[in-house]
Amino acid sequence: MIDSHCHINDKEYSDNPSEYINEAKQAGVEKFFVVGFDLKSSRIAIDIAKKHPECYALIGIHPSDIKNAGEHDLEIIEELIKEPKVVGIGEIGLDYYWDKDETVREQQKEAFIKQIEIANKHNLPISIHCRDGIEDCLNILKEHKVNKGGIMHCYAGSVETAKEFIKLGFVLGFGGTVTFKNSVKPKEVLATIPQNSYVLETDAPYLTPEPYRGRPNHSKYLYLVRNKIAELRNISPEQVEMESTANVERLFLL
Ligand code: NI
Repeated sequence: MIDSHCHINDKEYSDNPSEYINEAKQAGVEKFFVVGFDLKSSRIAIDIAKKHPECYALIGIHPSDIKNAGEHDLEIIEELIKEPKVVGIGEIGLDYYWDKDETVREQQKEAFIKQIEIANKHNLPISIHCRDGIEDCLNILKEHKVNKGGIMHCYAGSVETAKEFIKLGFVLGFGGTVTFKNSVKPKEVLATIPQNSYVLETDAPYLTPEPYRGRPNHSKYLYLVRNKIAELRNISPEQVEMESTANVERLFLL
């Protein structure tokens, strides 16, 4: 399996990536896409990817971190693309759940568009974080086409919106939330989308799947997401592994 979105660069794990990777490998995870959320975590993601053959880095400024970002952070992100094993820009997007203020939301949109432009200039895919702003997100992507497509990380939208993102060249990322009893939409989406349009993720240390909800998430729990998706799509866990792995590799590694 491939964990298409995790934060080994988070303070929870960044002190000992080797231990994290070994534990997850024993649970069947072979590759890790370590995703940045600000300048510091992007640099740590690159550092981890350089030292560990199983890891790749995505770099970028998360919408909730934009208001605290330095004036030149996006320029530095663009500089860092030259580093080895940087395979995408992320996580970038909109988060209206945590930011209700209109000025901050405008700032988020502007930074999102700037980072899409950086991705296009360097021919890289992107990883999108979108919470409570899915209409605006879709509109931005329609106006600013992403050449290499990307992942809608932790997809929580409707079946109709899913089709629109897929049409724009995106695949949908699913993690621990698919195991939650009260999550309805992701289950509907997973039952209907084509096999070339989804990937597995943990978002570790966040969004821990059942039955481990409440403790920090870890890529070693990715099999719980795989199993749930197999159940929802009525296929074998091995088939889920094959399909999702092919989708991540097509997007980032080919
Ligand atoms: Ni994340």
